[in-house]
Amino acid sequence: MGSDAKKKEIVSYLLSKGMLVKPDFLQRLANEQELETIYQQVQANDCPDNIITEQKSNIKILFSYAKQSKKRTIQDFVDYYNARYKAIEKILQNRQELNLLTSIGRLVGKQDRENISVIGMIKDKQTTKNNNIIFEIEDPTGTIKALASKNKPETWEKANDLIYDEVIGLTGTTGNNIIFANNIVLPEIPIITELKKSPEQGYAVVLADFHLGSQYFLEKEFKKFLLWIKGESGSEEQKEIAQKVKYIFIIGDLVAGVGIYPKQEDELIIKDVYEQFRVCADLLKQIPSHIPLIICPGNHDPGRISEPQPPIPEEYAKPLYEMKNTIMVSNPAIINIHSSQNFPGFDILMYHGYSFDEYAAQVPSIRANGGYDRGDLIMKFLLQRRHLAPSHTSTLHIPDPHCDPLVIEKIPDFFLTGHLHKTSVASYRNVTMICASCWESKTAFQEKTGHNPEPCRVPIINLQTRNIKIMRF
Ligand SMILES: [Fe+2]
Ligand SMILES: [Fe+2]
Repeated sequence: MGSDAKKKEIVSYLLSKGMLVKPDFLQRLANEQELETIYQQVQANDCPDNIITEQKSNIKILFSYAKQSKKRTIQDFVDYYNARYKAIEKILQNRQELNLLTSIGRLVGKQDRENISVIGMIKDKQTTKNNNIIFEIEDPTGTIKALASKNKPETWEKANDLIYDEVIGLTGTTGNNIIFANNIVLPEIPIITELKKSPEQGYAVVLADFHLGSQYFLEKEFKKFLLWIKGESGSEEQKEIAQKVKYIFIIGDLVAGVGIYPKQEDELIIKDVYEQFRVCADLLKQIPSHIPLIICPGNHDPGRISEPQPPIPEEYAKPLYEMKNTIMVSNPAIINIHSSQNFPGFDILMYHGYSFDEYAAQVPSIRANGGYDRGDLIMKFLLQRRHLAPSHTSTLHIPDPHCDPLVIEKIPDFFLTGHLHKTSVASYRNVTMICASCWESKTAFQEKTGHNPEPCRVPIINLQTRNIKIMRF
């Protein structure tokens, strides 16, 4: 399609959503690359209120959720789950393994044996006395039970890790109102995903979880980080890297907040959230102002905590909004950085990680391998499911009836998270997964819950080579 036709389609799409288009928007569409990005969004956009809203230098916000909250009805939840089902169904339906695809409604009441595939959402899961796993799977036409036999270890392992509300593909043989599972097919990241490397130099730094206001905030160490980023400390090589830092991502929990858990007040040295942000901004202002700070909220930050969480409200974080180099986005958010004439840039998925607690504690394969200490396994688990919080209980959801913004529709180059207070860096099918560290020492609450934070470590991404170093402060 020619660029004029694309422009027309974009403009009429926006008009259909009741949005008037400024002339400068049309001018921006003169840039071919941007036009293509927006056009693709319009094509794929089931979340119409989340179109690109801002652009600073070569940073593009591809997704930041800004819808106002309103009273939600039960129907909204039904529509929300339908939207999720459809989004993941779209990812699964062309998979070779699922070529005998049928609807669950067609299987109910059938007696004869038949090889089939279905796509459905997990509604229930039990282990029988004989150690087989029986789970219930639902699509818009019906619900059916499925059995994963212990005699098929590979399928059994996958069934054992199933969680409520995730959408999977299933192949098997039908019995009397049951499917004998042969294979469980996850939405997954395609095996061949390009490992993009930037032709231009540049570094990105990943921070999270300052918890400003907490008596455990590690101010001395954070100031060491500030000295380094200002180019005032470190080896020659480290100073050179500091100079080339082009982006800093801050993945939530900037402040400790107030009243987040029982008796938190005893652990706060700043008990006022406005003051917490004022002090936070004073520290961040020491970072050279040519480096943009891209900031999403975490569960300790004020404002609505249901996900997607809108950007930290200006009402609380005014000093951050007043800084020229801050870019406030929602949690989750998708940002494109470092594009140039011959390079499409990197797509960065930012997600604080509130849902991680549940997967660390409840997914057998993660729990058995270190649980909360294994951010890498949790991030991989979620990428495979193409969802940031598949089970309903893992976080508070905004049941947007038009789309499920927590579905990972776009495959990111980088998946950046926090919340665990422990760094991990790993790669899954060329998606670089990074969990940032924190700037808070072990709290009494963490002591009680058996968490072992590793504070003051900073993952630094070389955008040209994609090597990642972790600096300790
Ligand atoms: Fe945190
Ligand atoms: Fe958190």
